[in-house]
Amino acid sequence: MLRGPLTQDGVHAPHEQQLAEFARDLLAALDARPRSISPKYFYDAPGSRLFDRICELPEYYPTRVELGLLRSHAADIAQHFGPDAEIVEFGAGSLRKVRLLLDAMERPAGYLPIDISGDHLAGAAQTLRRAYPRLQVRPLVADYTGPVPLPVPAPGAGRRVGFFPGSTIGNFSRDEALQFLRMAAQALRGGGLLLGADLVKDPAVLHAAYNDAEGVTAAFNLNLLARANRELGSDFDLRQFAHSAFYNAPLQRIEMHLVSRRRQQVGVCGRHFEFAEGETLHTENSCKFTVEGMQALARQAGFSPAAVWTDPDRLFSLHWLHAPPDKESP
Ligand code: AVI
Repeated sequence: MLRGPLTQDGVHAPHEQQLAEFARDLLAALDARPRSISPKYFYDAPGSRLFDRICELPEYYPTRVELGLLRSHAADIAQHFGPDAEIVEFGAGSLRKVRLLLDAMERPAGYLPIDISGDHLAGAAQTLRRAYPRLQVRPLVADYTGPVPLPVPAPGAGRRVGFFPGSTIGNFSRDEALQFLRMAAQALRGGGLLLGADLVKDPAVLHAAYNDAEGVTAAFNLNLLARANRELGSDFDLRQFAHSAFYNAPLQRIEMHLVSRRRQQVGVCGRHFEFAEGETLHTENSCKFTVEGMQALARQAGFSPAAVWTDPDRLFSLHWLHAPPDKESP
């Protein structure tokens, strides 16, 4: 989902470059039919704060259920990881999830969070270093949707295990998901990947999760236009766009759109764009999976599915996927 330039530990990608990329992608989205933009642009600082609030909402079950699965099965998962393992987390989200793993693991050797946002990473790394003084914490500012040059394992470290929670994989297209899983299978050779994947379920539950009563998801969606106004000086009138989220059953995904409430013109980077009444800008897909479907995708990428944990209501799944054996292994 997140794309951007590769920089070294703690160094922010140049702001101008990020702005130019946002301008380029938004103009391309507005020129295209149907109009569609990557969900990565949700996550500026206000957008990330709104996402944190989404994770606390009663209707948004994925965070709560995944945390419950991690809590209930941490010991079992730690067994699969083995002693002295080094965790590579793709996207350094909240530290709550990885701490549940670290607390259950036998002598965790290292933690390598990879995220495009250097600021977010640095703070998370500091918190973890204080809580786990013996853990080697090595944050990496990088775009994990491309090839990530991982540093050599910490001295004495055991297996390298990936952690990709939250069903962020659902925000990828199928091709992007395959590309990510193939990259991870290579990077984690000899170890494995713990992957969170949201499950196909009653559309009413999904609808509520993406149309919360408080309107936080609507604000999160609309923040994309607010961000364009802040960063690119565009003149989107936020009152004239509506949040729309619905389940596309044949494609097994929630789609989020911003719908123009009336015919209007918007100025972006010196150009003008017409919106017809009801015309939409497609901002996100959140794919839902069956356990078998996710395992088939993982197999296609080179993993061997080894264990899966789900909650009694089968809302969410956690997959332990073996990466191919290390080249050096017999
Ligand atoms: C980050 N991602 C897995 C969330 C999801 O559920 O697809 C983003 C989100 N969009 C709306 N609410 C949450």
